[in-house]
Amino acid sequence: MYPDPSSITRVASLGAGPIGGGWTAHFLARGYDVTAYIHDMAERDALMDIVNTGWISLTALGLAEGASLDRLTITDDIEKAVEDAGFIQESAPERLDIKQGLYETLGRIVPADVVIASSTSGMTMTDIQATCATPERTVIGHPFNPPYLLPLVEIIGGKKTDPAAVQWANDFYAHAGKAPLVMKKEIPGFVATRLQEALWREALHMVANGEATPEDIDNALINGPAPRMAVQGQCMAFHVACGAGGMATNLDQFGPALKWPWTRLEAPELTQELRDRMVNGCNEIAGDRHFTDMAVDRDRKIVAILNALRDSA
Ligand SMILES: NC(=O)c1ccc[n+]([C@@H]2O[C@H](COP(=O)([O-])OP(=O)(O)OC[C@H]3O[C@@H](n4cnc5c(N)ncnc54)[C@H](O)[C@@H]3O)[C@@H](O)[C@H]2O)c1
Repeated sequence: MYPDPSSITRVASLGAGPIGGGWTAHFLARGYDVTAYIHDMAERDALMDIVNTGWISLTALGLAEGASLDRLTITDDIEKAVEDAGFIQESAPERLDIKQGLYETLGRIVPADVVIASSTSGMTMTDIQATCATPERTVIGHPFNPPYLLPLVEIIGGKKTDPAAVQWANDFYAHAGKAPLVMKKEIPGFVATRLQEALWREALHMVANGEATPEDIDNALINGPAPRMAVQGQCMAFHVACGAGGMATNLDQFGPALKWPWTRLEAPELTQELRDRMVNGCNEIAGDRHFTDMAVDRDRKIVAILNALRDSA
């Protein structure tokens, strides 16, 4: 029922925020024709800023043959945006009423064999597709920011989604240069976001209790687990850390430590004081650097890591 994922030549990217703009840059760099839908033509410059910023890194990573910014069309007409698109990536604001309204429209105007993926970070597809007349081809394709650099896309359908659409999205993203991960069940959040949330809660507890500053927390991560995590996730890091006995040694020897009160995963009270400590701490780390400079610096370094990993594969 769905076309061969490798036959897709045009993608529609809906939204001009960091995520919609980031997806637009990614698909252009992979050699697709892209139609970007922006809700208001006044957002055109903001969209192009994101695309142009992304293009610097994408060029450093290597563009696909034929990839060009000239293959981008921008429109504020939703019907034109989806015309001839073989795949739709929706990155509208994170509001259920807006997403549901959009899927109601898309459900009517997009042919039923075109998969529509939502970038949502926190909603379920079951909720988003509730008023869509053709929900079978709707899935979540959740990226990591910036979507033009970080390979992960977490995929899951809703109650009315056809499993074949989930499989198709997996195959299409893989063909389009992403690292897709199909989730086993629809739950609040995704694999990587839930792991990130656990880290985030513990960080907030330490700042709230005066045990560490935001700078201490980021230094601990950057100089500790982060470089290793680019190569090994939490599971393999512990497996390899325990010598030939691997994870079995880890669990048999250190299992009781799991019960020690090392983490406080209940969310801390988000008091004004905690809020201010976090905000002030991050502002201190940023100093007088502008957000754009920090984003460009981050991208340049991620490109270096990705290129280094590719060269040493
Ligand atoms: N920002 C992140 O770090 C991040 C990461 C992963 C996923 N996401 C998800 O991606 C999606 C987009 O995030 P963002 O940060 O780019 O959002 P954003 O709010 O900055 O941008 C949303 C864009 O949607 C468009 N829009 C506005 N009103 C609309 C409407 N009524 N119908 C259709 N489009 C409309 C506009 O072009 C706007 O720029 C959200 O669902 C968000 O949860 C965000």
